Amino acid sequence: MIINIKRGDSFCSYDLDIQRNITVLELLHKIKEIDPTLSYRHMCRAGICGTCAVKVNGKNVLACKTRLDKFEDESIVLEPVDNAVVIKDLVVEHGYWFDKYKDIRVDFIPGKYDNFNFKSIENAKNCIACFICNSVCPVMPIDKDFGGPFAFARVYGFLEDDRNQNKDYAKLMKGVLNHCTHCKNCNYACPLAVMPEVLIKKMEDKLISAGLLQAPQNDLFFGF
Ligand code: SF4
Ligand code: SF4
Ligand code: FES
Repeated sequence: MIINIKRGDSFCSYDLDIQRNITVLELLHKIKEIDPTLSYRHMCRAGICGTCAVKVNGKNVLACKTRLDKFEDESIVLEPVDNAVVIKDLVVEHGYWFDKYKDIRVDFIPGKYDNFNFKSIENAKNCIACFICNSVCPVMPIDKDFGGPFAFARVYGFLEDDRNQNKDYAKLMKGVLNHCTHCKNCNYACPLAVMPEVLIKKMEDKLISAGLLQAPQNDLFFGF
């Protein structure tokens, strides 16, 4: 099997005789054995830490949760995820995306509550910070003020928590939540089915109800 890995401005090719019943991460370990200079990120190897996101044949995946037999071609292309600064090879900068979250984060202030419905925030709490959603978002590279699907999904988990009395929805406007185009790329790409766009839409509705955002003036608002 031929594996082409983007390393800087060019690609390095590796020709390996391997079984396809291994994961992309295990493949990277095998390549590392013959080329120790290759860099990639991983920790848990179980789809929990979110650090191993890469692009395989143009599709964003968690390397540790994706088996090679998913790809039928004799050769595959591995690249770092998009919309991020590449540190080296497949390793990208995560700090910028965490900072975007910090800009709009809503603190948890325990308050009185009659009923705690975990189901309403379960999706958001499943997020593993893999940033695949940010890497497929068309708004991220052109709008520096946009918080991004990762940050909004995280904030949703606090704003909609029945136990949190901090309902500072206005914070969302700092991340210009309304600049989301509702393209749904983030919904389709998220490996944990967090559905960030759905959460964004719910928060947009809350902003409109609170008079913090103008309601759409036409029927095209539903997205495409
Ligand atoms: S739905 Fe919104 S947040 Fe999600 S990828 Fe599209 S523009 Fe970005
Ligand atoms: S919302 Fe999904 S794609 Fe985005 S960081 Fe969380 S787990 Fe990853
Ligand atoms: S190594 Fe942790 S999610 Fe892949």
